[in-house]
Amino acid sequence: MLRVGLLGLGNVGSAVVRRLQASAAELAHRAGMPLVLRRVAVAHLDKPRGVHVDRDLLTDDAWQVVRDPEVDVVVELIGGIEPARSYVREALNLGKSVITANKQLMASRGRELLEAAEQAGADLFFEASVAGGIPVIRTLKESLAGDRVREIVGILNGTTNYILTRMDEEGLSFAEALSEAQRLGFAESDPTEDVEGHDAAAKLAILASVAFNSRVVRSDVHCEGIAQLTQREVTYTKEIGFALKLVAHARDLGEEVEAAVYPALLPRGHPLAAVRREFNAVWLRAEAAGELLLYGRGAGGDPTASAVLSDLVAVARNRRYRAHGRVSCTCYHQKAVRSAADRVLAACLVLRVVDRPGVFAQVASAFGEEQVSLHSIVQQSRGDEADVLLRTHPAPERALRSVLHRLQRMPVVRGCSPLLRVIE
Ligand SMILES: NC(=O)c1ccc[n+]([C@@H]2O[C@H](COP(=O)([O-])OP(=O)(O)OC[C@H]3O[C@@H](n4cnc5c(N)ncnc54)[C@H](OP(=O)(O)O)[C@@H]3O)[C@@H](O)[C@H]2O)c1
Repeated sequence: MLRVGLLGLGNVGSAVVRRLQASAAELAHRAGMPLVLRRVAVAHLDKPRGVHVDRDLLTDDAWQVVRDPEVDVVVELIGGIEPARSYVREALNLGKSVITANKQLMASRGRELLEAAEQAGADLFFEASVAGGIPVIRTLKESLAGDRVREIVGILNGTTNYILTRMDEEGLSFAEALSEAQRLGFAESDPTEDVEGHDAAAKLAILASVAFNSRVVRSDVHCEGIAQLTQREVTYTKEIGFALKLVAHARDLGEEVEAAVYPALLPRGHPLAAVRREFNAVWLRAEAAGELLLYGRGAGGDPTASAVLSDLVAVARNRRYRAHGRVSCTCYHQKAVRSAADRVLAACLVLRVVDRPGVFAQVASAFGEEQVSLHSIVQQSRGDEADVLLRTHPAPERALRSVLHRLQRMPVVRGCSPLLRVIE
């Protein structure tokens, strides 16, 4: 029997309990032993729950769960760094295996916790911390163990993908699409974590660490969000055959790795361009397997519970074969993380300029002076102003930023989009 101590009975915790109850026999077959809920910690004992849990199992003191000698595995579904880190650390120190869905925790303290797991001979699994129900961590760690992943492009945040889909398909403004997402429960009342790209950046740090076998932490991931995007960028980039998405992009460059979250243009034929609404997807390029695509629901109680339960079954199987603690930290390289300014990528800018002779030469000179060569230009007149879309060839990010800076200071430039990278 595997005795489970649960920390948190919110969206994910309740779905985990529901599935443990509804699929007990099936899970026992797969795990090789029954998975039994022993204790559950919550913050508010009297809160109504969408699931039935015996009152005797509940406590509002998480330490009681962590330190209970009758708990073999602790499932952390509280979120945030503290006190979750302390609970996880203590459970590992006591030799208990831990499962967590906590991206902030794994993206910033993953190394410490994985080392503690290794020392204790315990498992620390975190499949649910990235892309909810999409089994990407185990795919990288196990299914691709014989290959080398070179590049990851992910749509890892359902809120921003929902907003950009609605701006693209229905012509909504950013504010209209955000308030619709909030109404439908796809966005929080404070959407900062999502729209500024922080949520995707934490997930990318975890993915890049696992994919490239070299530690990438949250603060290594350069991060730009979508709050500055307007309908103008969506419309013009669509006209030249691209979809605008918030992507999490990481590459293994050999000696170095790079990882960033930014709004980017994907050719309409790219598999990620077809990922609509709140769905997530991870596109991978591996040396031998080539291109792979994983697609599904990146959030929600049930999809995330699917990942948590797969980890529980893995912990049970490891206990059965006395193999726990063997798949700990896989970051055996120590590659440097390339600074954002040194990356080389093609980009696109949408400008609103004064429509009179000589203006275009001035705009083009900003690119020439920074040695950034232009790939294509599309101009549309709007009375005494014009919209201009400029797409560059690949250039160092540092040079692209200098171009942007020059353009923003030109009196003839009335408006300028953020830098939109182009994923070729
Ligand atoms: N929701 C998703 O779609 C999703 C997807 C992927 C990953 N995740 C991750 O899964 C984790 C849980 O997310 P969630 O959406 O289920 O969160 P949630 O609905 O806010 O639930 C959090 C739970 O933790 C309990 N809690 C908070 N502080 C506690 C403490 N100090 N001691 C004991 N219990 C405490 C709360 O108790 P009360 O209920 O009594 O207030 C609540 O039951 C987070 O790390 C999140 O990032 C969530």
